[in-house]
Amino acid sequence: MGLPNAKLGWFNLFPLICPNLLLLPEYFPPWLAGNSSKSLDIIAQYWQLVPRPADPRSGDYGYSKEELQRFGANEGLKVYKALENAANRKLPIRLLQHSGVSPDYTEEPSNLASGRPNVKNVTLLLSDWWGSGVVHAKVWISDSRDVYIGSANNDWKSLTQVKEVGIYLTGCSEIAEKVEIYYNNLWKLSHLNVSAYTRSVWDQQWQINRKVPCWSHFINPKERCRSPLPKYVKIAHVSGYPVLSDPNMSHISIETPGVNDSSSDPQPNYLSFAPPELLFGQYQTDEQAWVDTIKSVGKGGTVRINTMDWLGQSGYTKETVYWPSLSSAISEVVFSNGAKVQILVAKWAHFINNTDQYLKSLLYSNTLCSSSKYNHCSGKVEIKYYIVPGYNSTGPAALKGAATGNMYPGYTRVNHGKYAVSDVRAHISTSNLVWDYFYTTAGVSFGTYQPAIVSQLQEIFNADWTSPYAVPVEPLDEGHACSSR
Ligand SMILES: *[C@@H]1O[C@H](CO)[C@@H](O)[C@H](O)[C@H]1NC(C)=O
Ligand SMILES: *[C@@H]1O[C@H](CO)[C@@H](O)[C@H](O)[C@H]1NC(C)=O
Ligand SMILES: *[C@@H]1O[C@H](CO)[C@@H](O)[C@H](O)[C@H]1NC(C)=O
Ligand SMILES: *[C@@H]1O[C@H](CO)[C@@H](O)[C@H](O)[C@H]1NC(C)=O
Ligand SMILES: *[C@@H]1O[C@H](CO)[C@@H](O)[C@H](O)[C@H]1NC(C)=O
Ligand SMILES: *[C@@H]1O[C@H](CO)[C@@H](O)[C@H](O)[C@H]1NC(C)=O
Ligand SMILES: *[C@@H]1O[C@H](CO)[C@@H](O)[C@H](O)[C@H]1NC(C)=O
Repeated sequence: MGLPNAKLGWFNLFPLICPNLLLLPEYFPPWLAGNSSKSLDIIAQYWQLVPRPADPRSGDYGYSKEELQRFGANEGLKVYKALENAANRKLPIRLLQHSGVSPDYTEEPSNLASGRPNVKNVTLLLSDWWGSGVVHAKVWISDSRDVYIGSANNDWKSLTQVKEVGIYLTGCSEIAEKVEIYYNNLWKLSHLNVSAYTRSVWDQQWQINRKVPCWSHFINPKERCRSPLPKYVKIAHVSGYPVLSDPNMSHISIETPGVNDSSSDPQPNYLSFAPPELLFGQYQTDEQAWVDTIKSVGKGGTVRINTMDWLGQSGYTKETVYWPSLSSAISEVVFSNGAKVQILVAKWAHFINNTDQYLKSLLYSNTLCSSSKYNHCSGKVEIKYYIVPGYNSTGPAALKGAATGNMYPGYTRVNHGKYAVSDVRAHISTSNLVWDYFYTTAGVSFGTYQPAIVSQLQEIFNADWTSPYAVPVEPLDEGHACSSR
């Protein structure tokens, strides 16, 4: 079966240029690594650029050379080679990641760093700092001027067997420098004494006991420590952490290849980050940026949201947190703005079981919207699952010597993009829509009011929304919902 929407791009990447116009080749990472002349900084969750068909612990196990060729595994190898070349020509490179996944763990970054003093490799465990959570941001910064931010992992499968959305800004030192400050903060965390800098607190906002860095705003001001992090990005911002009401965005003009945008006037752009303790009240939190993107919709406008995971709660904490932030923002614009909100959620091999209940609960807003003849509520929520064919046939081709019948390697055939776009604002992220990604996990987003990007992101969403692989989520059975009478 062919790849859905192959035309618009299995791998949707926006090359953005500020301020110089350059045309970019199809794949960003080899290009980034190949063109770096001063520095290359990478944040990764995990590394699997090189396929491992011979390792029985790998999801690639048992696939033939020809099959891997057909899956496009070579693209990952190309990226790895480009990094190796950059490392060999003594480019200063920093690699920061979570502990990785089986069977590779940190082998690839470690091999790149091994015997090369110009390559530094660090594993940062956010669970040491927040009790749970991972480094989940996927970011490349080259020469402090070119930046990639998006959903793609440093994984060969990301390039051809997973649907991704990312943004690539070139010649954009103003933004690159801000992302680099975040980078340096993560790097600094990895070198600090965790036990000296963490506290267990009662989190009043989320009603749980949890571990946080001692400079967290979740700690009483008097008991807070001074942050050891060197520097903060100053994008004075929005509400949430702590509440600030007036966003101060950077205004840069952006050109995007393939779009004839005669109004390339500077438009507001922003970065947002998670977790909040890395912002120190100066950046915009990622949760707030998602909420504000939803609330940016005009009267009767449409908000489009694409995510792999959706839950109105936490997924990985000891105590479970209830998290209505995004569903609440959605219901608010449906009620007050008469907005249409369309949400695409991935259904795949590692689908979270209780997603469906949360989606149905959100769809119930439609019933509430029209629940009284006195309501002036004209908005609507629509939700679909995006199901990539073959998703239920993923995993190693063989297990203990026997064929499994799987047709694709593990962790493939999924719509992995994370973005929201209203009629005026586009938000491109690295975070899934579950509480943990905003409070215990490292994530980065870029957002903009640039009309050309807003419309391109809408087009990408619409192509998926109207594809035969998008299947509506059914609302709660009405009889069921109002059974007691
Ligand atoms: C560097 O970027 C240019 C585009 O400006 C591209 O043509 C070239 O292939 C890149 N070089 C490498 C080594 O990737
Ligand atoms: C890379 O980092 C990992 C995890 O921190 C560590 O085990 C390994 O020794 C490092 N490798 C090199 C070459 O520095
Ligand atoms: C880390 O901090 C703890 C608590 O302050 C202290 O007991 C310990 O000695 C420190 N460890 C190192 C390696 O400095
Ligand atoms: C907003 O940002 C600009 C440029 O970064 C800065 O010059 C200005 O002082 C900021 N304004 C506020 C109110 O923070
Ligand atoms: C871009 O649009 C402007 C105005 O709409 C038009 O005059 C111009 O010829 C266009 N340029 C290209 C390269 O299509
Ligand atoms: C999710 O559902 C599947 C199939 O019903 C079940 O086998 C699995 O145990 C469930 N997982 C969790 C974490 O509830
Ligand atoms: C996968 O799903 C398709 C479509 O729903 C179904 O026809 C097929 O039997 C499933 N395959 C497996 C191995 O479960």
